[in-house]
Amino acid sequence: NKKAFVFDLDGVIVDTAKYHFLAWQKIAGGLGIDFTHEHNEQLKGVSRVRSLDLILELGNIKASEEDKNQWLVQKNDDYLTYMATMDESEILPGVVRVLQYLKDTNQPIALGSASKNARPILEKVKIIHFFDEIVDGNDVTNAKPDPEVFLCAARLLHTAPENTIVFEDSVAGIQAANTAGMTSIGIGDAKVLHEAQYVFTDFTQIDTKFLETLVNK
Ligand code: G6P
Ligand code: MG
Repeated sequence: NKKAFVFDLDGVIVDTAKYHFLAWQKIAGGLGIDFTHEHNEQLKGVSRVRSLDLILELGNIKASEEDKNQWLVQKNDDYLTYMATMDESEILPGVVRVLQYLKDTNQPIALGSASKNARPILEKVKIIHFFDEIVDGNDVTNAKPDPEVFLCAARLLHTAPENTIVFEDSVAGIQAANTAGMTSIGIGDAKVLHEAQYVFTDFTQIDTKFLETLVNK
């Protein structure tokens, strides 16, 4: 059966969490909220709007829509200045090798990300050419753990969910893949991602033999 492969972006292909952290910390700091790395962990895979709401909850702050919109713009403007410095060196270890293997064996490949900055990031790190389809935060209305983003990617790749394989670093993303009936592969800490069908600390741990079994499953 024909397979399809869907990759999350942030934390799977590139380590953008550090930039999201710096940008959110500036917003939180301005509001007198102590925003730590631990808090930032909980924002992985979470949409921009939802992330702000969680930060405001942390500080017990009720804000008007107008204020919130202004902070969302500020946060992204700041994030864009970090993005401007990104290049191929930001691609996480082993990612290109896996993408190249899938390309060489003619597997359909899509991106399935909550980020509205997905396309420019893929362009900056020069791997956009690997992707047959890109589904990002501009295309979906329901954020992970809702399976919409992955179901949309599978549909665009003309592949049934049960033949679709998802690489994800967030708990919400793994849940989205599982709900969609797809094969979920966690990238990161096995304890955190225990709901995933397979977990690897990073792509260097995924060997060709494992990729072969996924393709021929
Ligand atoms: C990913 C990241 C989140 C980020 C979200 C939206 O899921 O893990 O930290 O908030 O994308 O990204 P954006 O680039 O649209 O602000
Ligand atoms: Mg992610």
